[in-house]
Amino acid sequence: MANNLLQGKKGIIFGALNDQSIAWKTALHAHAQGAELVLTNAPVAMRMGEIHQLAAAVGGAPVIPADATSVEDLDALIRGAMEHFGGPFDFILHSIGMSPNVRKGKHYTDVNYEWYKTTLDVSAISLHKTLATALKRGALKEWGSVVALSYIAAQRIFPDYGDMADAKSLLESVARSFGYHYGVAHKVRINTVSQSPTVTTAGSGVKGFDEFIAYSESMSPLGNADAAACADYCVTLFSDMTRYVTMQNLFHDGGFSNTGVSQEVIGKFA
Ligand SMILES: NC(=O)c1ccc[n+]([C@@H]2O[C@H](COP(=O)([O-])OP(=O)(O)OC[C@H]3O[C@@H](n4cnc5c(N)ncnc54)[C@H](O)[C@@H]3O)[C@@H](O)[C@H]2O)c1
Repeated sequence: MANNLLQGKKGIIFGALNDQSIAWKTALHAHAQGAELVLTNAPVAMRMGEIHQLAAAVGGAPVIPADATSVEDLDALIRGAMEHFGGPFDFILHSIGMSPNVRKGKHYTDVNYEWYKTTLDVSAISLHKTLATALKRGALKEWGSVVALSYIAAQRIFPDYGDMADAKSLLESVARSFGYHYGVAHKVRINTVSQSPTVTTAGSGVKGFDEFIAYSESMSPLGNADAAACADYCVTLFSDMTRYVTMQNLFHDGGFSNTGVSQEVIGKFA
């Protein structure tokens, strides 16, 4: 496998909580392909300090805390990254999701509306805030690439995914809308990757996750894509090999999204 897909490229990775995180693996794979990184996460998520192990593993990347719902924090992050990189940079990974309603077991039909706003703000509007801040600061180079992580509950009902489904629909819409404006203005591309269910802190917070991941595995011709494979896919989207891909929601799910039923699942009803 090539090891210089991201040679000379620089970017910010949001959302590496621990070594299971999709963002953690993406940081490692991007670094292995030659990228220089700045890491960030919410200040509360840094209490355990694990992100500093990752920072050391990717060549001593700076860690700049930012609550992705705070434009002020995001502006400080973008400015800090530009200072570190010596100017505009090439890519951003948005790997952020959190729903207080899902966490606290609130049914979709009975959500707490303040929490609902938090779900949308953290999981979707944060992408808009990040892009708007980057645009104002001239932070991304031409042909730069932004990837945000999504899930197929944006298109189809998965009952236990709750209000996160609405957040993912909004996230995909922001990628499309902002992708137009950022593309016209600066040739920056913006996509979402719709990933298989994956064993991580955020994933495991969804009720019935173990059964669900097994169901998804049996419905996917290639099986579920894991976090490491997702990291590889993100690396290709940051690279120059995908320069004309933008405003897309790209399924990275082993074929799940185009499978009506598998023989394995039908067999269970025989
Ligand atoms: N795990 C899955 O099954 C799965 C499937 C499809 C998509 N995704 C998406 O992948 C992304 C990454 O999740 P993951 O599975 O790696 O789990 P994870 O729990 O490791 O990552 C979620 C991250 O969001 C961060 N975060 C939460 N609130 C924040 C805030 N206010 N500001 C900044 N960061 C904040 C957390 O600190 C954490 O690092 C999420 O968007 C998630 O919805 C996950």
